Amino acid sequence: MWRSLKTIAVALVALTVAGAATAQQIKAVTPAQLPNPETLNRASYIEWMKANRGESEKWLGQRWDRYVQVLRVGDVKTDKMRRAFLMAPREVFAAGNPPVRERGYEHAFLDMGYGVTMSGPHLQSRMTDVLDVKPGEKVLEIGTGSGTQSGILSYLTDKVYTIEIIAPLADRTRGVYDKAIAQGYTEFKNINTKQADGYYGWAEQAPFDKIIVTCGIDHVPPELLKQLKPGGIIVIPVGPPGAQRVIKMIKQQAQDGTTTMTREDIYGGKIVPFVPFTKLVDGKITGSHNR
Ligand SMILES: C[S@@+](CC[C@H](N)C(=O)[O-])C[C@H]1O[C@@H](n2cnc3c(N)ncnc32)[C@H](O)[C@@H]1O
Repeated sequence: MWRSLKTIAVALVALTVAGAATAQQIKAVTPAQLPNPETLNRASYIEWMKANRGESEKWLGQRWDRYVQVLRVGDVKTDKMRRAFLMAPREVFAAGNPPVRERGYEHAFLDMGYGVTMSGPHLQSRMTDVLDVKPGEKVLEIGTGSGTQSGILSYLTDKVYTIEIIAPLADRTRGVYDKAIAQGYTEFKNINTKQADGYYGWAEQAPFDKIIVTCGIDHVPPELLKQLKPGGIIVIPVGPPGAQRVIKMIKQQAQDGTTTMTREDIYGGKIVPFVPFTKLVDGKITGSHNR
């Protein structure tokens, strides 16, 4: 009896040590210190990332394979987004909901629990690329969800602000960031989180250079337009429930102060369904902000 208990105890210690070793394996670097990963071919990318970041071959292989696809279909067009894609560990965020942890690189919306999804790599890449984030710009995201989108943004700027309405999900994803930071992904220190109704933006941190909305609504929230700088870009899914179009708008301000918005459908009219832009009433999620 005691011998078998001792065996179990030894096994548990071994497992804990193995877990700790896994958690320690990432090489911390600031994104600014990192040169572009090697992209000659799959093998050279994996070797480069193993040497410079210490990530596992399993995930690096999946990341590379999806990278090839997002380039092929034109969802990634800029060098900065190529680099962000190659650096961002989707497996860390998919792990927020254990049943889907193996599926982070699939071209799919993944169930994150709480009735919400983690958007797929193609959609996130296209939305982020057209946002054209420059180093040092302030970016606001509405709909933290799994945390993946903000994770990608953290390779483009050191000022990322993200709001999630579902309190336990906001807490869980904050925990995902903190664990990843402790593991060596120190770039996620660039991400500031808040649990609130994102319809009203983040007034204390405004104005923003860029805003990205990851839940669907039938109009553009006026407060978000107000918190966007002149010349700033907002990317937002707009339309009736389950049938939004992803719109990029640029805020233009004339010398007399008049503001106009240019509009461009980043999918040329294709419908892309998003989870609803919900509403907080007396601290409870009640319906949506659709008019
Ligand atoms: C498609 S999901 C998450 C995508 C996310 N950016 C990611 O990388 O996984 C959209 C998220 O928007 C959140 N959301 C919906 N309405 C919101 C609101 N009023 N304010 C803030 N977040 C909201 C949902 O709870 C959900 O987590």
